[in-house]
Amino acid sequence: MRALNVSAALTLCTYAAAAPLTAISEPLPLLIWHGLGDKFDNEGLQSVGNLAEQINPGTYVHIIRLDDDGNNDRAATFFGNLTTQIEQVCEDIKNEPKLRTADKKSVRVDALGFSQGGQFLRGLLERCDDLSMRSLVTFGSQHNGIAEFQDCRTWDFLCKGSTALIKGNAWTEYVQNKVVPAQYYRTVNESTALASDEYLESSNFLADVNNERVLKNEKYAEKVASLEKFVMFVFEEDTTVIPKESGWFAEVNRTTGEVTPLQNRTIYTEDWLGLKKLDKKNGLVFKKTPGGHMQLNEKVLIKTFQDYFGAEKKFRSTMELGYELEEEIHGRWNRWRHEGQQEYMTNPSKDALR
Ligand SMILES: *[C@@H]1O[C@H](CO)[C@@H](O)[C@H](O)[C@H]1NC(C)=O
Ligand SMILES: *[C@@H]1O[C@H](CO)[C@@H](O)[C@H](O)[C@H]1NC(C)=O
Ligand SMILES: *[C@@H]1O[C@H](CO)[C@@H](O)[C@H](O)[C@H]1NC(C)=O
Ligand SMILES: *[C@@H]1O[C@H](CO)[C@@H](O)[C@H](O)[C@H]1NC(C)=O
Repeated sequence: MRALNVSAALTLCTYAAAAPLTAISEPLPLLIWHGLGDKFDNEGLQSVGNLAEQINPGTYVHIIRLDDDGNNDRAATFFGNLTTQIEQVCEDIKNEPKLRTADKKSVRVDALGFSQGGQFLRGLLERCDDLSMRSLVTFGSQHNGIAEFQDCRTWDFLCKGSTALIKGNAWTEYVQNKVVPAQYYRTVNESTALASDEYLESSNFLADVNNERVLKNEKYAEKVASLEKFVMFVFEEDTTVIPKESGWFAEVNRTTGEVTPLQNRTIYTEDWLGLKKLDKKNGLVFKKTPGGHMQLNEKVLIKTFQDYFGAEKKFRSTMELGYELEEEIHGRWNRWRHEGQQEYMTNPSKDALR
C-alpha cells in the first residue's frame, strides 16, 4: 500500500476538502502592512485582503493599523517614531486571538508588505517576540533604504510637511524621532563606499534592523533565517523608490548606476542578518514585476498567494496530497494494530484484532 493511484488520491482529496483531517488545510493568517500615504480602510487594500481569502479560503486577514481612524492611520505613515510604532503593532497582534497558533502559545502568520510596509514587517518580525512568519512577501520595499526622498503630489500636505522637516536635517534626533521616511534614509560614504557615519550613528530604524552597526543583534538574524520564504518584488519601472533595487537589498552606486547585488555585499557574506542562511535553504526569492511603483497586477498577486500563502503544509499536487494522507492513515492503522495487539495480549478473550 505504498503508492496511491490517482483516482484514489482524488477521492481522498475530495474527502479532505469536505472534512479536514488535521491542521493540513488550515491557512495561516495573513498580516498586511500598507505603504506611505495609504490607510488601512482604503478600498484597494480591502480588495487585496478579499483576494487572499478567495485564493486560500478561510484565511484570516489582518490589515495593520496605527490608529482606528483612517486619516490618523495615514498620518502615521508620515509621522511617528518607528520604534514605538513597531512596539504598538507587536502588542496589537499579540492581543488578536485569531492570529495565534492552535496551542495559543505564539503568533504565526504569513505577511505581505507594500512599499515601506515591507521593511516594517521585517522589523516587526525581528523585534516582536513570539511572532514567527512562514512567508514574508514585499512589493517595492526599501530594504536597503532610500537615497532620496520621494516627490510629493501637489495637494499632499502631509507628504510636503514631512519633506519640509527633513530638508537638511535628516540626521537630527528631532527628525529621526518624528519623520517616518527619514528613519529608512541611508547614505553611503563616497570614499569608502560603505554606510556613512551619520547613518550608522543616527538612523532610528534601518541601521538597527539591518544589523549594520558594530554590535549585531543575534536575535534579528535568527528571526530572519527562520523564515521559510522571503520574497522580494521590485517594480521594473519604479521611479518613486530611489534606488528601486533597494527592494532586493542591493546597493547602487549613484554616480555610475552600478548595482551590487545582495550576495556581493558584506551584510550577506558575513551574514549579519541571517539572509545568507536563508538563501542556503532556498528561502530568498528575487522577483520583478512590470510597471511603476505599486502598480499591482492581479495575476501576480494571485500567483503569489497560491505559491506562498495558505495552509502551512502546502501540497503541490494531488499526488503529494495522496501520499501525505496515506502516510497519516498508515500511521493510524499501525498505531491501532499495535494498541490492538497489546490489548489482545493482556485480554485475549476480547477480539481486539477484528
Ligand atoms: C524613538 O522612541 C524610542 C522609544 O521610545 C526612543 O528610545 C528613541 O530615542 C526615539 N528615537 C528618537 C530618534 O528620538
Ligand atoms: C568617509 O570615510 C572616511 C574613512 O573612514 C572618513 O574619514 C570620512 O570622514 C567619511 N566621510 C563621511 C562624509 O562620512
Ligand atoms: C561609484 O563608482 C565610482 C567609479 O567606480 C567610484 O569612484 C565611487 O567611489 C563609487 N561610489 C560609491 C559610493 O561606491
Ligand atoms: C558578484 O560576485 C561574483 C563572485 O564573486 C562576481 O563574479 C560578480 O562579478 C559580482 N557581481 C557584481 C555585480 O559585483
